[in-house]
Amino acid sequence: MSARFRGKSVLVTGAASGIGKATVDLFADEGANVIAVDLTPTAKPEPARVGSIMTVDGNAGDEREVAAMVATAVERHGGLDIICANAGISGGMAGLFEQSAEDWLSLLQVNLIGPFLAIKHGAKAMMDAGRPGAIVCTASVAGLRAGAGGLAYSASKAGVINLVQGAAQQLTGSGIRVNAVCPGLVDTGMTQDLYTAARSKGREDLIGQLNPLKRGGEPAEIARTIAFLASDEAAYINGQALVVDGGLSTSLPFAKPRKLGQASF
Ligand SMILES: NC(=O)c1ccc[n+]([C@@H]2O[C@H](COP(=O)([O-])OP(=O)(O)OC[C@H]3O[C@@H](n4cnc5c(N)ncnc54)[C@H](O)[C@@H]3O)[C@@H](O)[C@H]2O)c1
Repeated sequence: MSARFRGKSVLVTGAASGIGKATVDLFADEGANVIAVDLTPTAKPEPARVGSIMTVDGNAGDEREVAAMVATAVERHGGLDIICANAGISGGMAGLFEQSAEDWLSLLQVNLIGPFLAIKHGAKAMMDAGRPGAIVCTASVAGLRAGAGGLAYSASKAGVINLVQGAAQQLTGSGIRVNAVCPGLVDTGMTQDLYTAARSKGREDLIGQLNPLKRGGEPAEIARTIAFLASDEAAYINGQALVVDGGLSTSLPFAKPRKLGQASF
């Protein structure tokens, strides 16, 4: 097992499930000391790691709690090197006329204000300690164009993509990089209903049918991208949104080619 992140202090939100959990495991396996934050009480960390995991209950959309989780990382691990602002909620697929301003506010509080708070408090801690670091926010292909989530969800993820651009600019000269990952469909708690429905009908082949790889993604595939963006291998990547979707977003919705290698029209 490589120790790419040996001794690094890492904070991950939305850490108890799916992409966040896979991200925590990857960083800890590669030597990092991870503060794993989630709303829900999290399982006890497994001891056999190169690094360490400390689970913390906290709300990634609450400014005081975000400040407290950053302070915990700094106190416990002597600073903060990497933040993964990953916590998110889907908000369901209610239509335009069924949504209220309150629905939007509660979703934006987690999905967009959460990453803003992580950047604000995390970057401050990094700068105070004179430690250039990396921040990776989990956006989504839903933020690139409509159709992959509810209206508020898509708007929140489009906001995250813009947020990392603006934050990268405002942190000019700090050495702190801010990027986003845009997953396509991934098998996690958030998509459990969809996966369960397809599996229960014996129609797993429908999952990911719209992308050229014709499958859904695994949480570990997104975690590896997050780790790449946080690593020194991505030292010159800043303010970007890296899409990891099996090719889903490469095409407008034309008919699929009938034969391999053929154009689709
Ligand atoms: N699964 C997908 O297909 C997919 C695709 C694109 C983007 N994403 C994004 O990936 C991120 C992770 O989601 P996932 O798919 O792993 O879902 P998940 O439901 O498996 O995990 C999300 C975790 O975030 C936690 N969480 C929710 N609100 C929180 C809050 N306010 N504070 C702290 N923790 C909170 C939940 O308790 C849960 O453990 C989200 O931002 C989501 O929007 C997921």
